[in-house]
Amino acid sequence: MCGIVGIVGNRPVAPLMVDALKRLEYRGYDSAGVATLDEGVLGRRRAEGKLVNLQSRLDENPLAGTIGIGHTRWATHGVPNETNAHPHFSNDVALVHNGIIENFRELREELIEDGYEFTSQTDTEVVAHLVSRELNSGKSPPEAAFAAIKRLEGAFALAILFKNEDNLIVAARNGPPLAIGHGEGEMYLGSDAIALAPFTNVITYLEDGDWATIHRDDMQIFNENGARVERAKQLSVGSTLMVDKGNHRHFMSKEIFEQPEVIGHTLSHFLDFSEQRVSGLDKAPFDFKELDRINITACGTAYYAGLVSKYWFEKLARLPVDIDVASEFRYREAPMKKDGLSLFITQSGETADTLAGLRYCKQQGQHIGAIVNVKESTIARESDVVFQTLAGPEIGVASTKAFTCQLSTLACLAVGAARQRGTIDATREAQLVRELSEAPRYASQALKLWDEIAVIARDLQNVDHVLYLGRDTNFPLAMEGALKLKEISYIHAEGYAAGELKHGPIALIDETMPVVVIAPYDSIFEKTVSNMQEVAARGGKIILITDQKGANAAGMDDAKVIILPEMPAIITPIIYALPVQMLAYHTAVHMGTDVDQPRNLAKSVTVE
Ligand code: AGP
Repeated sequence: MCGIVGIVGNRPVAPLMVDALKRLEYRGYDSAGVATLDEGVLGRRRAEGKLVNLQSRLDENPLAGTIGIGHTRWATHGVPNETNAHPHFSNDVALVHNGIIENFRELREELIEDGYEFTSQTDTEVVAHLVSRELNSGKSPPEAAFAAIKRLEGAFALAILFKNEDNLIVAARNGPPLAIGHGEGEMYLGSDAIALAPFTNVITYLEDGDWATIHRDDMQIFNENGARVERAKQLSVGSTLMVDKGNHRHFMSKEIFEQPEVIGHTLSHFLDFSEQRVSGLDKAPFDFKELDRINITACGTAYYAGLVSKYWFEKLARLPVDIDVASEFRYREAPMKKDGLSLFITQSGETADTLAGLRYCKQQGQHIGAIVNVKESTIARESDVVFQTLAGPEIGVASTKAFTCQLSTLACLAVGAARQRGTIDATREAQLVRELSEAPRYASQALKLWDEIAVIARDLQNVDHVLYLGRDTNFPLAMEGALKLKEISYIHAEGYAAGELKHGPIALIDETMPVVVIAPYDSIFEKTVSNMQEVAARGGKIILITDQKGANAAGMDDAKVIILPEMPAIITPIIYALPVQMLAYHTAVHMGTDVDQPRNLAKSVTVE
């Protein structure tokens, strides 16, 4: 939700921290700030809104100092303004925080009774005062930080600076990620490896409960009991990837166009095209034929990918699938058989609700599999097996290429599961592998609809509501399409099973209600034609996404029709996601919203 950086270095750190924060802005961008220590003085610059505003503050009034901390915020407590922006100060302490302190109210009252005055509405400021109070009780800075941390309940990643310590940053992690970067006579701290890319690719990840003292030439890590622990140094992929928009207007459009390539990368990770078989299951610590069901947990777009895979696992592998949104699953106390399989789908690998679901399933003795894009993420590290999507860094807050790579991975797993369970033979497996291998080519063809969809999207701008309909694997796509539209254009949209239309939603239909129908021509296409006729009879405006056969069969003269090539059924959910993404993108562009950093959102929801 927020981004944290820290540098203890041998050069002015303020501009370096702003550079690092730019790489974290996708995590949250309500406000930003930096603090440095220079000749015994703690200085601070903060600004509401995007990082460019903080940069302006620093241009007007530079901050010296070779040690500092910084933060880009997604507001959880307190409106997004300068007063609530991090870093927060308390006497000799400066602090930045990512997460939610669940017991902040009682701590705030306790501190107010002790005479501490609060200037912000944030939970974070409580932590700064807690550390300060421990300092005032005579503890050393590390001891004071440790004592304060022990009082906290909830999720937090912290970086703490002390007025009298120009060679110490204390870091702590309980939930949201925190990485330490190793430099030459400099050390770095960041919410992820991408933030530290300009400085180093040698990274140490803190584990939950860890806290650390970081100096220019070394660092010490301690566990929640205060005992020294060692954590591995690793080379980070994140640091070798330059993340920029290239010649695209937005990260989202760049990432939409990357899909043929990254879908191909991902498929090649799990399929042996020469043997025409699924190869990505060899390392799994379970055999699908031993399973009697799968549990899938995810959030948002990742959840919709899981919903599509339910159809695949059940149809191809005859394997029942239970699927939940993680925020519900984590408290549902679902009964689970030992040695069952729980899959977690997540782009970031840091989504708090999904991580909580993973930990519940681990306690229940489940095999834990993660379909994850960020290999070094917490969820990846806590899983028994990782099925990595090779989408590359996804910076646009609205997930696109990660979604189609999740679908590609899940399709391979479903085919592999069917083969292991004997519900398909080697011939059918080979056919499905061949069909999946065609996905990149069909994705490239779908992208040729870019300009046509830009024109159709004009029908959606300035409407108040849009309904998306689909059947079978196109039903989750309908919900994904609705999510894409609402999260970047701010137009209310709902995705519905087409067959549900007459059970209520049809009451909404009139000439002001565009209805997007996702329906390749298949065995149930005629059912969806009936739905479209019901909509048309009530004046609804239809946008039909189909193939030529579907367009001919629908006979909807007044509908706007987006025609994709006919393609194998197994890849339609992957390929039909692209026009859905393009429709949302162009609508948002027409409406002038911030496509890459939509209001109120963050790329990775690392708090509840
Ligand atoms: C998708 O466009 C959204 N940004 C959001 O729903 C996202 O899919 C969800 O927060 C899950 O994130 P994750 O895949 O990183 O776990």
